[in-house]
Amino acid sequence: MENFFLTEYFDWQPKRPTLVHRAINKALRGLRIPYRTGPYSGGTTSIEQRINIYHFVMQVLVYDVPGDLVELGCYTGYTAVLIQKVLQRYAPGRKLHVYDSFEGLPDKSDADGSTPFRKGWLSTTEGRLVSSFQKYGLPLPVIHKGWFENTLPTELPDAIAFAHLDGDFYSSIAVSLQYVYPKLSKGAVCVIDDYCDPAIYPGGWNALPGVKKACDEFFSDKPEKVHYIYSGPYSHGFFHKA
Ligand SMILES: C[S@@+](CC[C@H](N)C(=O)[O-])C[C@H]1O[C@@H](n2cnc3c(N)ncnc32)[C@H](O)[C@@H]1O
Repeated sequence: MENFFLTEYFDWQPKRPTLVHRAINKALRGLRIPYRTGPYSGGTTSIEQRINIYHFVMQVLVYDVPGDLVELGCYTGYTAVLIQKVLQRYAPGRKLHVYDSFEGLPDKSDADGSTPFRKGWLSTTEGRLVSSFQKYGLPLPVIHKGWFENTLPTELPDAIAFAHLDGDFYSSIAVSLQYVYPKLSKGAVCVIDDYCDPAIYPGGWNALPGVKKACDEFFSDKPEKVHYIYSGPYSHGFFHKA
């Protein structure tokens, strides 16, 4: 287990933007496009995000928060493999459930602003996800294929100790919160990928503004507050269920 989350998907050399990246980023800034190029490693996750996930998952295990673990938007499994690795080592009795259309992103809405992300981006196959787990000799998670609005109403576990919401668009995060929130155990941790609060961190990665919008609306009448947490070149928010 030790350093699995650091070593397996990452090379050890810190990668810095080249002159070409910097020139492209300057042009993007000038055009007010909230997207940056960079020589990131780790696919869809940054090393800081993986460290966040590792510590949050460990936290719910150490405090024995009841329930299973879920990831809504698993893609090829960068994060899911890490979660499963932690469970295999420290809590083999807990189950990981993952949810994805495997057809990529749905239509975006006005709430997603000027994001460059498009319908169908990030499409993959269930087989590709399965091979990520096989590569590391890990048990498969419970895979729920389909659009969130069809799977979540009936296929979430009764109690959830940890949730990773990574559906990118306003509608996907809104439907994720709607169904996951009531199932979270007291003390459960919910991490929301791409949650960026420019008021707290103006330099944060804010290519998916619909994520924060969905959270702001959902939590307007809830006791919890979403906190922004540093996550390197990408963005992360989280809350503890009251
Ligand atoms: C950024 S990727 C997830 C990355 C993944 N968590 C990881 O660690 O690599 C977003 C995923 O969410 C899925 N997705 C987004 N909205 C969805 C929806 N409404 N229903 C089902 N899947 C959705 C997409 O298919 C895509 O695979």
